[in-house]
This record gives sequence, structure tokens and C-alpha cells, in this order.
Amino acid sequence: MAASEAKVTEGEIYYPSEQVRERATVQEYESLYQRSIEDPQGFWAERAEELEWFQKWEKVLDDSNPPFYKWFVGAKVNIVHNALDRHVQTWRKNKLALIWEGEPGDMRTFSYHALHREVCKFANVLRSMGVKKGDIVTIYLPRIPEQVIAMLACAKIGAAHSVVYGGFSVEALAERIEDAQSRVLITADGGWLRGKIVPLKDTADEAMARQPTIETCIVVKRTGQEIYMEAGRDYWFHDLMALPIANQTCCTDEVDAEDPLFILYTSGTTGRPKGVVHTHGGYMVHIYTTLKYVFDLRDEDRWWCAADPGWITGHSYIVYGPLLLGATSFMYEGAPNYPYPNRWWRMIENYSITVLYTAPTAIRGLMRYGDAWPNRHDLSSLRLLGSVGEPINPEAWRWYYTVIGKERCPIMDTWWQTETGGFMITPLPITPLKPGSATKPFFGIVADVVDDHGNPVAPGEEGYLVIKKPWPGMLRTILKDPERYKTQYWGKFGTMYQTGDSARKDQDGYFWIIGRMDDVIKVSGYRLGTAEVESALVSHPAVAEAAAIGLPHDVKGNAIYTYVILKAGVEKSDKLAEELRNHVAHEIGPIARPEQVTFVDSLPKTRSGKIMRRVLKARALGLPEGDVTTLEE
Ligand code: PRX
Repeated sequence: MAASEAKVTEGEIYYPSEQVRERATVQEYESLYQRSIEDPQGFWAERAEELEWFQKWEKVLDDSNPPFYKWFVGAKVNIVHNALDRHVQTWRKNKLALIWEGEPGDMRTFSYHALHREVCKFANVLRSMGVKKGDIVTIYLPRIPEQVIAMLACAKIGAAHSVVYGGFSVEALAERIEDAQSRVLITADGGWLRGKIVPLKDTADEAMARQPTIETCIVVKRTGQEIYMEAGRDYWFHDLMALPIANQTCCTDEVDAEDPLFILYTSGTTGRPKGVVHTHGGYMVHIYTTLKYVFDLRDEDRWWCAADPGWITGHSYIVYGPLLLGATSFMYEGAPNYPYPNRWWRMIENYSITVLYTAPTAIRGLMRYGDAWPNRHDLSSLRLLGSVGEPINPEAWRWYYTVIGKERCPIMDTWWQTETGGFMITPLPITPLKPGSATKPFFGIVADVVDDHGNPVAPGEEGYLVIKKPWPGMLRTILKDPERYKTQYWGKFGTMYQTGDSARKDQDGYFWIIGRMDDVIKVSGYRLGTAEVESALVSHPAVAEAAAIGLPHDVKGNAIYTYVILKAGVEKSDKLAEELRNHVAHEIGPIARPEQVTFVDSLPKTRSGKIMRRVLKARALGLPEGDVTTLEE
């Protein structure tokens, strides 16, 4: 341990091996961290120098109009130039960028040259359709290489993408298309999941019928069944890619560092999902630096981020991050336990994966099947493991560490959010680990736990998790709703970014994330708002009012429980409860299907009519109801 490293004293501690420490990109945390937060701009500017810019910035940070911060102001750049174009000028041209396995067992690989070629071709297709800077293209695809190609093609020509997770359904897709006012939708006939076809085009057709802004729909053929194609609107991806306009050369647009790269919708406290806006410059520097320092990716690595590109984890650490580092990434289409619970372990062995980055819910899900499945496979290629999306319970942590990592592979428990763009609180491969703690803030990030007045709380006490200084990967605003950006994230503490999470810090300065303090429910690591589930329920003709809460679940972390008041004259029945569960799945997606629908005659509300979900939750768990002075009689 370096002399300047802080001592770790409290709790169950795991030290990384000498071998892991030696290989680490950064050899030391404390003094580097101190320097990075004394001069965050200097720290980030140095990292930015490692990437290529068409024109250098005049100012690293413009904080003249908080909370509307700008990074690398005046610079011209394009993330795709750094993710693809610059690599094909080097020996990496023939290095594998992407290895993909479909659920049925089919496989495709792309070298940097091949990925660059496909992106150029598709960018030309999009350009020929008039897609340009200022447009938002909606992408609704399964986990297939075209997902990556489509995202990069948009970015290359300066258009923003809005990826809607392929597990979402009609209403979720329709409202995102509407909010973004997309004219172009990219989808597929279907995707494979647990041996069945997920009929994406059918869902897209229904969504387009609700939101007629889409003029052109591009359809990737994946599953091959008969689908409806509307003449003049729907085109096959492969037909377009075979046209002469799909040329293999395509210049990359030089955009402003602050131009939007993508919109990603996420659930918040109230109402509809909000379109979080990320930009080319700052986001690029943030995810490049975090992935490099935290997972130490090198040319000999095979990186597997097992998320979906439809979520921020996939955007940052399947698509952009690994490509910025010139790494080889692995991507898998389907379910972890299909056809057998050894699917993941078999692929780690087959492709010699060196780093696996996944969510606690997946670990818990696979842990259920016992040790024999992973033990049947040679997992010795692994050198690091990662976790993201929700707090990892120590039991799952120890299983992951022992059975998968064979006590050789430290677990990087990375805390971050759609809004933060990249890792914020995370270990490095040199950090002593405590199961369940995301450990300490990344370089340049000032995180703290504060009370209602914004004052730091004492070690061990619970409080609001806040970020005290701007960072380059931060969201810039909410699409078309800058006011909501201001109130949601900066409304409570003014100069501190409010994460919406509660946390505590221990004596060693380690952060322990407790969970969401707002009406966001994390189901299997996916983020859903109670308001979305409730509005889906109320859209059913039998429902008068509805409330949704999250309750603890062994595998999913949380599961959704709902309480429904039926319209007068409608009979309660098990059949109707089942129909309502399916209705939510049809409107939002299978991940939002409530665990239970309970029919009630009234809901606990405040006198001003707000549903007191806290009270519902306490009742369901048999806990004291707390302060109910505002409860309506
Ligand atoms: O509650 C925290 C939890 O996930 C939330 C962010 O969700 P989302 O925007 O969907 O992004 C997920 C992937 C980055 C956070 O507010 N969360 C995320 N990572 C962790 C976590 N909770 C505990 N530990 C983590 N490592």
C-alpha cells in the first residue's frame, strides 16, 4: 500500500492481489484524488488531451449560468471520430471491435474497419433521407450489432439518437417518439428472448399509429417472420444498405463539444419520463477516463458489459466507452439462463472474456441455480468483475467474488446514473473493497452525504447523496424542459446536484448507497416511476384510481405492487387483476408488470390529494406508518 493511502479499518475488507494492483492504470488514489478536486478542470483537461479534437476548447468549464454548465466550450469534436475514425488509421483497423452472439447461437464479429464501414454506409443512408443536426432519431432494436451501428451513424452525422429499450412497449415507445418529435424510427422485425420472438415491429406499428410523427421506419431483419410493411413508410435495412447511396466513405460531422449526442429517457419523481440530454465533448471525456481507470482496459482485453444498449450503461460502456479505448467488446442478445443456466459462463469460457460488468439482479438470478453451473466452466480468463444499477447485497457480492471470480477478481461496484453519464463513486483495481459499498468518489468528483439543510452528516448517518461540483459527463438539461432540470436536480440545495438517492459514509469515507428517496422503483436494476405504472393502470377502462409502490424482492431487488380502485359497477375478480397486470406490460413493457394488483376502496392520501405511498409501503411491510398527521380522514 502506498504511504499516502488512507487506512481502511471498518468492516469486512478484501484487498486486491499484488498482481491486480501492479497492472492498474493508476497506482495511487488519495493524493491524486486530492489534486483532482482542487483543480477538477485541470484534471479533466489533461484527460481530454488524450483524445482528438478538430478544434481545441477555449474554456474547460463555463459556469457563468448555473446549473446550465458547459464543458470544453468552443471546441469542435465528434465522439465517432475518437471511437472509430482514429482507430482505422492505426493497426487497430484489423482488431476486433465487437464480438456478438445471438441467443439462438449465431455469431458475428466486426473489426474496427468493418464497424467503421457499416457505420459509414448507414450514415450515408440516413443523410440521404435528410437526417441532420438538430434531428432526433428514435432507435428501438433488440440487442444486435445494428443497434451499435445505428447509434454511431446518427452521431457521425451530428443527429442525436434516442434509444428506447427493446423491452419497452407501445405507450412507452409512443410517448418517447412524441416528445422527441422523431421523423425516423429504426426497429427490427423482432428479437430473440428465451427462445421466443419479441415482436418489435408489431409494437412499433401500434406506437406509430398513436404518434404519427414518423415518416420513415427502417426495419432490420432479425427473426424473419412475416411482418406488416407499410409502403412509402417502411424500408428494410438490408435493402437500403445495398443501394449505391450506402457508400463506404462518409465524412464525420464536426460538431460543437456541447452539441447533443443523445437523449435518453428516464423515470423521475412525477409524470412522464424525462429526456436526459448528453453532449459530444464532456460525455466523451468522462466515459473514456472512467472506463480506462476503473477497468484498466488494454488491447489484450475482452470486455463484456452485459447491459442493454437501451439503457445508459449500454450507451456509455457497451457502445461509446470501449470504442473510445480501442477495446474489444462482447455483446449477447438474449437471456442469461437460456437454454441452460450456464449460458453466460459458457460464453466467458468460449470468448475468453477478461472483464464482466453486470447488475446485482443478474448475479442473484444466476446464483439461484447453484455453483455447479459456473464450476463446469473455465473462468480463469477473468481478471476483474463489475456491478451496477442497485446496491449489491453482501451475499451476492461474496458469491460473485468467490464462485465467479475465484477470489482473484476484485469487484468494481460502480455507482452512477443516467444523468451522470459515467461512473461517479467507484473502486479502482487498487482499492480495498467492502461488499455492498461503491467505495469512494472517482477523480474530479466531489460527492457527499448531507442533511435537509445541505450540511454534511456525521459518519454512519443516513442522508441525501449529493454532488458538489459539476463534472463533464453530467446531463445538460431535460429536453424541452429546462425548468424541470433546475427544480428536479438543483431545486433542493441550489449549488449541489441532488441524486435522489440516500446514502451514508462510514468512518473510512466509504459510501454506502441505501436506495432511492423519491418515487422511482428499481426493478431488476431497471428504473421505473410509480407515476408511469399508475398512469398505465388508469388508462384501462375499469380503473378509477391506482397507486404503485416497490417492495423488496429476492432476485429483482424490488417488485411492483399496485393498489387499484375500480370504477363504480365494475366487479373485482382474479381475472381482472390478471388483465390489469397484462395491460401494464402491454403499455410499458414486461419489466413493469406488477407483481400484484390489490383492489381497494380507498387510498391513503394527504389532504391535498397526494397518494401517500410511504403509508402503503409501511402497511404492506407491517411497519409503523410514521408521521400521518397530513393523512386525509
Ligand atoms: O439508485 C441508484 C442506483 O441506480 C440509480 C440510477 O439508475 P439509472 O439512471 O437507471 O442508472 C443505472 C445505471 C448507471 C441510482 O440513483 N444505482 C446505480 N448504481 C448503483 C446504484 N445503487 C447502488 N449501487 C450502485 N453501484
